[in-house]
Amino acid sequence: MTTEEIMSLALGMSGYRRVPEDSAIFVPGNGIRKVLFGLDVSTAELQLAKTLGVDLVIAHHPPGTTTEIWKVFLRHVEFMTAGGVPEDAALAAVAEKVEGLKLRGQAANYDHVPSVARLLGIPFMNVHAPLDELGRRRMREEVDAVLAPYHPASSTGATREGSAPVGTGLARGHATVGDIVEALSALPEMRAAPTKVQLALGDARNPVSKVVVAHGAYTNGGYPVAHTCFAHGIDLVVYIHIDFGELQRLRAEGRGNLIVTGHLAGDSLGFTPFLRELRKHGLEVTTFSGAIEP
Ligand SMILES: [Fe+2]
Ligand SMILES: [Fe+2]
Repeated sequence: MTTEEIMSLALGMSGYRRVPEDSAIFVPGNGIRKVLFGLDVSTAELQLAKTLGVDLVIAHHPPGTTTEIWKVFLRHVEFMTAGGVPEDAALAAVAEKVEGLKLRGQAANYDHVPSVARLLGIPFMNVHAPLDELGRRRMREEVDAVLAPYHPASSTGATREGSAPVGTGLARGHATVGDIVEALSALPEMRAAPTKVQLALGDARNPVSKVVVAHGAYTNGGYPVAHTCFAHGIDLVVYIHIDFGELQRLRAEGRGNLIVTGHLAGDSLGFTPFLRELRKHGLEVTTFSGAIEP
């Protein structure tokens, strides 16, 4: 395979029509058979890859903050508006972070790691948002499966009396935050991870009908995105991680529910299906640097 074909495969799987600003082919290659895939790849890891004799290194996280990376963070606006948050409020929620990312893109040495790959002559690329989008969709499917029986538009008729599975929230007439934690925890990647799907804010018994899975937007939306969701009727936000300080700000407001899945576990939801696909194409993939497969 070529690096182009590998990137196209990731885009196709996730519904991206072009390479997003947090993903790139830094050193193209062809005739690739042996791949090293890791979450974080820096210069030492590239030297390791050279020693191991692999044909291509794929990182998940971008090896530097590029100048346009803030554009990927705008995906949060799409997630929020899809959940019913007015667009002006959603844009206001991301404004400060976008400004910060623009400045970081100005300041960062975005060519440090790619330049080493060029000098070593080792094909090198990273795939970030497309893989996180795969993971977001899988979490979204789990959430929707929990909510579907209670949704008025549901055509399954599962809310009819007598059809409710014993011990579920159907008897209560609503899904709970705990039901969502349970559903996400049942994903094979989550079960295999040493981290647990954590309810960082709220109560497992709280009823839930509107959920935003905010993943695949470069990084989590921190306090502003979750706060804005809760202020506009979203019951529950799902992140894969959040800074403690941001969480404390949300807790101080005493509103809403927030699930954090765990970073590596959350990322593995996206790269696991991708790596499976690469192997189907005959590639030999070795994982490292936090890319733990279930
Ligand atoms: Fe990720
Ligand atoms: Fe990540």
